[in-house]
Amino acid sequence: MRTIIILNPKGGCGKSTIATNIASYFAMKGKKVALADCDPQGSSHDWLLARPDTCSTINGIVVENDRLKIPRNTDVLIIDTPAAIGDKRLGKYLRKAQSLIMPIIASPIDIRAAERFLSELFSFKGTINNKIKIATVANRVREDTLIAAKLEHYLGNVKLPNGKRLPFMTMLRSTKTIFVQQNVV
Ligand SMILES: Nc1ncnc2c1ncn2[C@@H]1O[C@H](COP(=O)(O)OP(=O)(O)OP(=O)(O)O)[C@@H](O)[C@H]1O
Ligand SMILES: [Mg+2]
Repeated sequence: MRTIIILNPKGGCGKSTIATNIASYFAMKGKKVALADCDPQGSSHDWLLARPDTCSTINGIVVENDRLKIPRNTDVLIIDTPAAIGDKRLGKYLRKAQSLIMPIIASPIDIRAAERFLSELFSFKGTINNKIKIATVANRVREDTLIAAKLEHYLGNVKLPNGKRLPFMTMLRSTKTIFVQQNVV
């Protein structure tokens, strides 16, 4: 099973949006997908409930005390995490994942928060040992703005503790059609 965690303690950066879209993507590819919403706010869970039955199946996972009950034969587990996640929970989630996607909004406040969080993240043992593949996604980007260029430059140049470049996956535009039932944006 491949576990992908969507993480950034900064609120509203697009964790649930990206988690649900990635879950849809793998479900459409015919994978057995589970989506765990670890946020009491329940955005991903609400999205699943509103999803028509005709869409490819995504199993909503019950989270109890950060324990995840995963159905057998799950191919891909997507974990949507809450904002302001504390160190203890962060460590728990990091131990479960093989991949981590960190969405970051194109704003000065979000970029500074990302800088702080990434250095915290790199100091965690599991990530230092390169057990987790980390990648960033710029989200809600308005093209041809100064801040978009600043974020692109920053994310293109972050270094991992081993000196390699932290992968910067993509830039997602600010769009009205981000929360769709089935398709990747
Ligand atoms: N690329 C985008 N374009 C336009 N709106 C977006 C985009 N990505 C996310 N949003 C919107 O931004 C808001 C916050 O997104 P989302 O709930 O996914 O963030 P979050 O990181 O999960 O928030 P929280 O920290 O509260 O869990 C939502 O209203 C969502 O629809
Ligand atoms: Mg969320």
